[in-house]
Amino acid sequence: MADLHIRPSRGLKGALTPPGDKSLSHRAVMFAALSEGKTEITGFLSGEDTLNTAKAVRMLGITVEENGPGSLTVHGKGLDGLSEPTGVLDLGNSGTGMRLLAGLLAGQDFHSVLTGDQYLVKRPMGRIVEPLRKMGAVIDGRAGGKLAPLSVRGAGRNARPIDHVSTVASAQVKSAILLCGLYAGGVTSVSEPNKSRDHTERMLRFFGVQVREEGLRVSVVGRQALRAPGRLEIPSDISSAAFFLVAASIVPGSEVLVRNVGVNPTRTGIIDILTAMGADIALENLREQAGEPVADIRARYRKLWAATIGGDLIPRAIDEIPAIAVAAAYAEGTTVIKDAAELRVKESDRIAAITAELRKMGASVRELPDGMEITGRERLNGAVCESHGDHRIAMSMAIAGLAASGEMTVKDTVWIETSFPDFERMLSQLAY
Ligand code: S3P
Repeated sequence: MADLHIRPSRGLKGALTPPGDKSLSHRAVMFAALSEGKTEITGFLSGEDTLNTAKAVRMLGITVEENGPGSLTVHGKGLDGLSEPTGVLDLGNSGTGMRLLAGLLAGQDFHSVLTGDQYLVKRPMGRIVEPLRKMGAVIDGRAGGKLAPLSVRGAGRNARPIDHVSTVASAQVKSAILLCGLYAGGVTSVSEPNKSRDHTERMLRFFGVQVREEGLRVSVVGRQALRAPGRLEIPSDISSAAFFLVAASIVPGSEVLVRNVGVNPTRTGIIDILTAMGADIALENLREQAGEPVADIRARYRKLWAATIGGDLIPRAIDEIPAIAVAAAYAEGTTVIKDAAELRVKESDRIAAITAELRKMGASVRELPDGMEITGRERLNGAVCESHGDHRIAMSMAIAGLAASGEMTVKDTVWIETSFPDFERMLSQLAY
C-alpha cells in the first residue's frame, strides 16, 4: 500500500527508455509458445501483468527461461503442444492476459480455469465468452459466464470458425476470437466498429501466419503453423511513455527524450491529441522492429489549449485518456472527451476515478456517461489522491502533481507494478 510523494517540478530534463510494451509482451510469450521452435524475446515487460501471463504459459507445459532483465527464451511446441494445467491460471489484474488466454484455451482439447484479482473478476467477460461458445468451447463462470473465474473446456478438434461482428472496438475481443480461430477448420473473421490496436495481426504475421484485413474486418484461416522467428525485440510501451510526454507538456522548462517507443498508428492517438492541443512533440529516428514501427519521441514544454476528443481517436488513445485528462486540466479552455464509455470497464471506472481525483486538486471536471468535460487552469493544488487500484490513475495523478502548487500524495501506488515497476525511479531522475 505504498504512497508516492510528488513535489512540484521546475522542469523535466533528460532521456529515458520506458519498459517494454505490455500488449506486445503478452502476445510475444503466448505466440512463441504456439510456434515450432525457440524464440528469444528481448524488451519483455517485467511487470506483474505480463509475468502472470508467462507463468500461465509455463503452467500450460511450455518452458520459459528468464535470461536476465526483459529477456526470455520460450521453447515453443507448436499449435498442439500445450497441455492441461493442473492448477488455476491466475492472471492477476490483467484483462489482456485473461481474454487472450481464454481465446487460446477455447481452441484446446483440455479444460482450464482462469481467475484474477478483485478488480479483474468484476470486468466484463461476456464479450469474449459469447463468441467463444459459438466456436464450440464450453465456458462457464459467475453470472452465467459474464464474470471470472471462468472454466474453459476447449473445443479442440471441433472448433468452428465464426464471422463475428463486435459492438465494441476491442483488441482483446478481436484477439481472443482470432486465437481460437487458429484451431478452427475454415476462416474466422472479426469486424469492429473502429480499428483497435492491431498487434495480434502484425505479430501473427511475424510468426509466419497469413492474416487478411479488409477495412475493419480481420480474418484468419485455421490450422496454420506458427514459425518461431528466433529473436523478437519488443519496443518500449507508448502507454508508459505517455506519462512523460504529458509531464513535459505541462511543466514549464521541460525537455524529454523518450527512447525506443512503439509508434504503431493504432496506438499513437496520444501524440495526435497532444499535438492538436499545441504540444511540441517530434518523432525522431523512425525504424521498424518485429513488424512494429518504433521511434524516439522528443517532447518540450509548450502551453496547451483545449481539444475535442472522440470517435475513432478513442481506441487509438484508450489507455492514455487518464493522462490526457491531466493535460486538459492544465490547458486553456474546455476539453471534451466523448465516445469513451469503455473507460468505465478498465482496471477501474476511469471516468469516475479521474473526475474524482482531479477535482481534489481543484480542477473543474464534469463527468459525462461516456467521457468528461474538463476546463483547464494554469495551476492545480497538490492534494492527497487515491489510485483506485489502477496503475494508470496512480501514474496520471503523480504527473499532475509535478505541475501543481504544493506537495501531492498518491496513495496505494503498488498497482504501478502491473505495468511500470521503474516509474518512480525514472520520474525522480528526470523531474527536479
Ligand atoms: C489491449 C487492448 C485494449 C487496452 C488494453 C490492452 C490489448 O483494450 O485497453 O490495455 O493488449 O489487446 P481493448 O480490448 O478495449 O481494445
